[in-house]
Amino acid sequence: MWEKQHFLIGVTGGIAAYKTVDLISRLKKKGADVTVIMTRNAKEFVSPLTFQTISQNRVYTELFEEDWDVRHISLAKKGNVLAVVPATANFINKAAHGLADDLLSTVFLAFKGKKILVPSMNVNMFDNPITCKSLNMLKKLGCYIIEPEEGFLACGDVGKGRLPETETIIEEFEYVISKKDLMGKKILVTAGPTIEPIDPVRYITNRSSGKMGYAVARAARNRGADVILISGPTHIPPPCRVKLIRVETAQQMFERVVEHFHEVDIVIKAAAVCDFKPKSTRGDKIKKTDVDFKLVLVQNKDILYELGRMKQKQILVGFAAETRELFKNARQKLVKKNLDMVIANDVSRADTGFASDYNKINIIYNTGEIEGLEKNTKENLANLILDRVVEHYC
Ligand code: PMT
Repeated sequence: MWEKQHFLIGVTGGIAAYKTVDLISRLKKKGADVTVIMTRNAKEFVSPLTFQTISQNRVYTELFEEDWDVRHISLAKKGNVLAVVPATANFINKAAHGLADDLLSTVFLAFKGKKILVPSMNVNMFDNPITCKSLNMLKKLGCYIIEPEEGFLACGDVGKGRLPETETIIEEFEYVISKKDLMGKKILVTAGPTIEPIDPVRYITNRSSGKMGYAVARAARNRGADVILISGPTHIPPPCRVKLIRVETAQQMFERVVEHFHEVDIVIKAAAVCDFKPKSTRGDKIKKTDVDFKLVLVQNKDILYELGRMKQKQILVGFAAETRELFKNARQKLVKKNLDMVIANDVSRADTGFASDYNKINIIYNTGEIEGLEKNTKENLANLILDRVVEHYC
């Protein structure tokens, strides 16, 4: 996806310009082509040479130069996304009124692809009704605005105006450039482990990190779906534009999944739900002197099995985590839980599965057909799973 993108990155004169260097470095690592256009004021903060070195492309700063070739028009035709990072109040207010008095503002006016603005400025400048009105005008005209974050600002004030973290900007860019073939669909994704308390300090759980489920939720969100992510405890930052519901136990996950089931079109259950829980949970910490203590386990409800019984229009996709007889066990789950698709992964492998950034999956369809996919990143596999859902069931 990133390899096909040519980003024009406009840099205006704000202190956050130094963070744009990291952003461009990340875009390059993802395979995107990047051309930087700087305003004169931006050069006060970061040297064009820095952007040239990082982007591995010529940096443009002037409208009129010796090799002038109607530059604003040729540059405007070059990229498919134009993102201004950081976008100062001056640039935003100029752009909203169609003013074009330097290279970046003329390219902005002539550009016909996707436009993104990432405002960063003092909180009072951001809250100023003029800036608010300009941002609203630009939004109505189809510009995509990535909201600044609240926090400590370079000028010493505290408030809204900080450039978001690079990771957040990349996630928003990914949303903007993705195809929108799931627009209008509502998808429920579960992710992560559940934890089943023994006493106030101990619990049983499993090795799920949530990476697979979060990758599916992000990919579905990028492709235009309305996503509800029901997640057990993980260390993954909440994805933007996703309704995140945090749970701990299998019972809590069951209740929240059932609550939302009637409103969704597709369910993808990547969570590793604990099959067992302690028969009772102690209110106080169990002492090691309590030598007679025995941990008695009982079965949790099988959430997916219940969904299979309740299902009407919904497409149900389960995962099967197996350490042996992968296909036989996964097929049995597909039939027993009334699934449309099951993603079988062998979790005995050290290089894929639990907690890894990679997975190796086989997709088993309700027709009996099996499709083996190469080992790949969980991000790429999430998209491939959604491709198959769209192709076979939507
Ligand atoms: O989170 P990561 O570290 O990225 O790891 C990803 C993963 C290995 C957890 C993921 O790829 C995966 O395989 N998830 C399913 C794990 C699992 O619980 O598999 P299972 O074979 O025990 O369950 C089969 C299906 O029934 C799953 O969709 C599961 O969500 C569901 N289930 C299981 C038990 C239960 N009580 N309720 C359920 O709904």
